[in-house]
Amino acid sequence: MQEPGISRSLADIILSLSDNLSFWEYLESRNITYALERVFPDIDHAVSLTEFSRPARIISTLVDSKSEYTLTHTSDLAAKALAAASARGYDDQRKLKFYFAALFHDIGKLVIPNRILHKKGALNSEEMQEARKHVYYTEKTLWEIGFDREIISWAANHHERLDGSGYPRGLTADQLDRESRTLAVLDVYQSLTEDRPYWKAKTHGEAAAVLSQMAEQGYLNSREVEEISLLFSQSVTQ
Ligand SMILES: [Fe+2]
Ligand SMILES: [Fe+2]
Repeated sequence: MQEPGISRSLADIILSLSDNLSFWEYLESRNITYALERVFPDIDHAVSLTEFSRPARIISTLVDSKSEYTLTHTSDLAAKALAAASARGYDDQRKLKFYFAALFHDIGKLVIPNRILHKKGALNSEEMQEARKHVYYTEKTLWEIGFDREIISWAANHHERLDGSGYPRGLTADQLDRESRTLAVLDVYQSLTEDRPYWKAKTHGEAAAVLSQMAEQGYLNSREVEEISLLFSQSVTQ
């Protein structure tokens, strides 16, 4: 099945760029616009999501490389998204779409300065505003690549909360589809089980308890929290 609007030359461009030392300069915020224009050139013709998997993984590795604290965040989250999609019995196409949404959910972080991403301690309100912009840039970038609307909204909604307290749009439960809600649960779970400048990685049990609390507070969907907690209860430290 062909997906519209993804450049066939993308894989070649990314692979050649990653061999070039100056490529790493692109990760600097001041160079990001140029980098994205290089990586996502004018659309020539469509390729399938399957064909796009390899360059997609390379791009997500770059996102993770941006911060020493999130070296495997995207790849681990994408693996969990794939496991959740398989457990739900999604067909291959939907599975791949959910995987891509996870793989690209934080690509907008490339635009956020490391002084904010690496800050030890709480962000002030200005820094918080800046950090939150990453979802806007995720959405913008995925539009520019030419992904379909579902992938874009699942990725762009990962910080939305059911009670409307999330960002960037403050969407509420009735405006969030199942995949958006699940990706939000997975992102919280993944983040809690990683070391960050401001916390030590939690065990599965501790992370599951935080998720349950967030469901009780009306932020996350309780059924999806249970599903995800159960799914990963076997695979990580209790
Ligand atoms: Fe995020
Ligand atoms: Fe994330």
